[in-house]
Amino acid sequence: MKELKAKFLLGSPSRKFFPDTKLPEFAFAGRSNVGKSSMINFLTWQNKLAKTSSTPGKTKEINFFDIDNQWILADLPGYGYAKTGKKERERIQLLIRDYLHHRKQIFCVFVLVDSRIPPQSSDLEFLKALGEKNLPCAIVFTKADKPGSKGALKYLKDFEKRMLEDWEELPPSFITSSSNKIGREQILDFIDSSLISTN
Ligand code: GTP
Ligand code: MG
Repeated sequence: MKELKAKFLLGSPSRKFFPDTKLPEFAFAGRSNVGKSSMINFLTWQNKLAKTSSTPGKTKEINFFDIDNQWILADLPGYGYAKTGKKERERIQLLIRDYLHHRKQIFCVFVLVDSRIPPQSSDLEFLKALGEKNLPCAIVFTKADKPGSKGALKYLKDFEKRMLEDWEELPPSFITSSSNKIGREQILDFIDSSLISTN
């Protein structure tokens, strides 16, 4: 299995502290607890790179990682976690908004969506906002531990149906499970081909 050389750069609590990097950047966003940090560890093949937790709201800053000196990975804090205090929630919202608005080197925002629950309006709204900003995005369905099963496919279909209410053409999507090691090659190939097409 190809291991990526990942180096933690820094965690930014606000726009002022975003690193001054020039490399293409790929962001991982999604609701709290959807499995962003687990996905990052799975992609890099390093267990303890990003801190994971069963308590939602673990990641409170944007964590930047250099991957193979080729691209930057940004682990965003989860959006829409109700139990975080109001002030903290607003700070995180502003941080994500600032990031999407000002970070010119974004190549793609991967939006992680839990494949085990019905479509959530927070995910649909987040994707819609990316579309309106013309930011390239892709959907990563997470926790598809049994991807072929009837239940799993139902929610994916429901999600796509809901998206088509706003989108003419759906962004690329991936079906993944960090626990069962599904979908890694597809995402890494997608990143590789995005890098190649701009070289
Ligand atoms: P925040 O940092 O709080 O926004 O959460 P996060 O999106 O980074 O989620 P994290 O990776 O910490 O995972 C949240 C929980 O989901 C943990 O208990 C993980 O073990 C679990 N989890 C992550 N990926 C999978 C998966 O593929 N399958 C299953 N069954 N559970 C998973
Ligand atoms: Mg996290």
